[in-house]
Amino acid sequence: MRLTVHGVLDRYRRGERLTMVTAYDYTAARIIDRTDIPLVLVGDSLGMVMQGRDSTLPVTLDDIEYHTRAVVRGAQRPLVVADLPFLTYSTPDDALRNAGRLMAQTGCGSVKLEGGLPFAPTVRRLTEAGIPVMGHLGFTPQSVHQIGMRVQGRSVEAGARLVRDAQALAEAGAWGMVLELVPAPLARLVTQRVDVPTIGIGAGPDCSGEVQVWHDVLGLYDDFVPRHTRRYATLADTAAEALSAYESDVRAREFPTAANSSTLDEETLAAIEAALDSTP
Ligand code: KIV
Repeated sequence: MRLTVHGVLDRYRRGERLTMVTAYDYTAARIIDRTDIPLVLVGDSLGMVMQGRDSTLPVTLDDIEYHTRAVVRGAQRPLVVADLPFLTYSTPDDALRNAGRLMAQTGCGSVKLEGGLPFAPTVRRLTEAGIPVMGHLGFTPQSVHQIGMRVQGRSVEAGARLVRDAQALAEAGAWGMVLELVPAPLARLVTQRVDVPTIGIGAGPDCSGEVQVWHDVLGLYDDFVPRHTRRYATLADTAAEALSAYESDVRAREFPTAANSSTLDEETLAAIEAALDSTP
């Protein structure tokens, strides 16, 4: 049975740490379903890791809808959270229409949006309409051009604002929030001051849980490992080696063999040739 937000909150209240990973397709989702990971995020990071773009800004609602449908089909067990893309929740009305579409059309169990206090009315509107919302504070990639890609909340003012943003989201009904690139002691303070799960990424060890990008933990890039990541495999190397072995087998006529083929009796083949010769 699929985990709901209530199931996730029960685990949080029991003191269980929560693991979340991103996924963007059916095959990845099926692999996640073989694990105990309770939370899957169809993140707008798909703009970078699936589309090769340099930010999340070009990702559309259609993109998120397409990828979320595939993930929901593949992962039957975890709670699937879908990101609301850039400028799809600028007003509470936009948010309701677009989040409603994702919930109705994809089967996801929650949406996620970036931003603090100014988005509290939006969070309230969605939760009152029955749409579970996850917040996202700290480094918010959709604002990269305004805030820069750096750790957030380092000054007294920015740190206090981040805690207040977290409290505002929780009070407005957000069931949890991602804390991205936040100093570890500040993330701990937020986690102590809100009564919903905080899911860190580059936010230290004291959040209620952790989220990582599929490609980072599985080593699907061989050129860059972000500091906040730990690689648990080097699948890019494994895949490149496998593909090279495939290529050399094809070139050497060692694949495919009879074992990979189907047969046709000589008589039928001769009849096909005769039919070809007799038809103009
Ligand atoms: O889009 C995404 O993958 C995210 C995570 C990095 C939290 O928002």
